[in-house]
Amino acid sequence: MTDISNDPAGRLAPVNLFEYEALAKDRLSPLAWDYFSSGAMDEVTLLDNREAFERIAIRYHVLAGVAERNLSAQLLGRRHRLPLLIAPTAFGRLAHPDGECAVARAAASEGVTQVLSTLSTTSLEDVAKAAPDGDRWFQLYVFKDRGLTADLVRRAEAAGYQAIVMTVDAPMLGRRERDARNRFALPEGLTAANLTAQLSRIGSDGTDSGLFQFFADVLDPGLTWDDVEWLASLTTLPVLVKGVVRGDDAERAIERGCAGVIVSNHGGRQLDTAISSIDALPEVAEAVDGRGAVLVDGGVRRGTDIVKALALGASAVLIGRPVLWGLAADGEAGVARVLRILRDEFDLAMALCGASSVEELWPDLLV
Ligand code: GLV
Repeated sequence: MTDISNDPAGRLAPVNLFEYEALAKDRLSPLAWDYFSSGAMDEVTLLDNREAFERIAIRYHVLAGVAERNLSAQLLGRRHRLPLLIAPTAFGRLAHPDGECAVARAAASEGVTQVLSTLSTTSLEDVAKAAPDGDRWFQLYVFKDRGLTADLVRRAEAAGYQAIVMTVDAPMLGRRERDARNRFALPEGLTAANLTAQLSRIGSDGTDSGLFQFFADVLDPGLTWDDVEWLASLTTLPVLVKGVVRGDDAERAIERGCAGVIVSNHGGRQLDTAISSIDALPEVAEAVDGRGAVLVDGGVRRGTDIVKALALGASAVLIGRPVLWGLAADGEAGVARVLRILRDEFDLAMALCGASSVEELWPDLLV
C-alpha cells in the first residue's frame, strides 16, 4: 500500500485525492486555481460528475477468493497495467515549474499512459524526451488552419505518441465565469509550446478570458464528422474522439473509422447542465458494442469509481484534475502518489467487491 507516513516537514501526507486538492488550492495562484478547478457557468455538471458516481451503489460478491488480483486491462490491442490514463489538461506549468515533464516521468514510473494536451506548456517532443519509456497519446484540437493541425499529428507520430485523441465537445470554449473575471492569460514565461510563436502567447485584451478569445480566433467551430474521417485518413495511429455523451454519436464515430470514444463532458467545463459522464456511459457502451474502446472521464476520485465505470462498460477511465493537484502539491512525486493512491484504492475495491480481474466487472454489480 502507499506509504502514508509523514513528509520530512512532519506533515501527514495526503491519504486521498481530495486532500491533494486542498493542498493544491493552497499552493496555486488564484488565477491558476480558478482555471483548473472551474466548470462552465453554474458548475452544475462539474458537481454532478462527482455526485453521479456517489449515487451508484455496489452489490458486492462475498467469498469469491480474491487473494490474487490482476488489475490490468486490455485497451487498443495492448495490456495496460491499470485501467487508468492521465487525461489531457492544458498549461501544466501553471501548476508546477516541471509541468508536463513531471507528469510524464510519474506516469512512466507507474505504468500509466499520459494523454498530452495540444495546449501543453512544454512541447510534445520535450515531453516525450522527458520519459522515453513512457506510453503516451496526443490530444488534438482541430484548428481553422488544417496545415497546422496536420503538422501537429505528424509531429506526434514522429515523437512516438501511440494514439490521437480528437476533442469534439469544444466548437467554442465553454463559459468559465471565474476565468472571465480574472481575464485569464498565461503568465509571462509560459506559452502553448506546441504552437507557432504567433499563436503560443495566450494573452487577454483585458475584456475577457484570453483562452475564450483564443478558441474563438483559431479553433474551428465548423467541425463535422467529415473532419473525423479526414483525421483518421491522415494518420496510421488509432483515433479516438473525446467528448461523446450519446449512443448515436458513438455509433457515428465508429462508422467514421475511430478506434474508440471517450465519454466526457470536458470535466464540466463546456456545456453546463450536460449529463454527467458516468450517467452517459451505459448508452455509449451499448452502441459501441465491443467495436472500439470506450473510456470515460469526469469525477473519478476513488477506486470504487473505477469499478463502477468498468462495470458499466468502460475499458478504462482517465483522471485530469487530481493529477494537477498532485503536481501542484509536490511535482513528480505528487503525481506518482496520486496514481498510487488510486491504484491501491482500486485494488481494495476489487477485493471487497469480489472481483479478481477487470473482466469480472459487470453491470449486475451495481444499483
Ligand atoms: C482546455 O482545454 C480547457 O478546457 O481549458
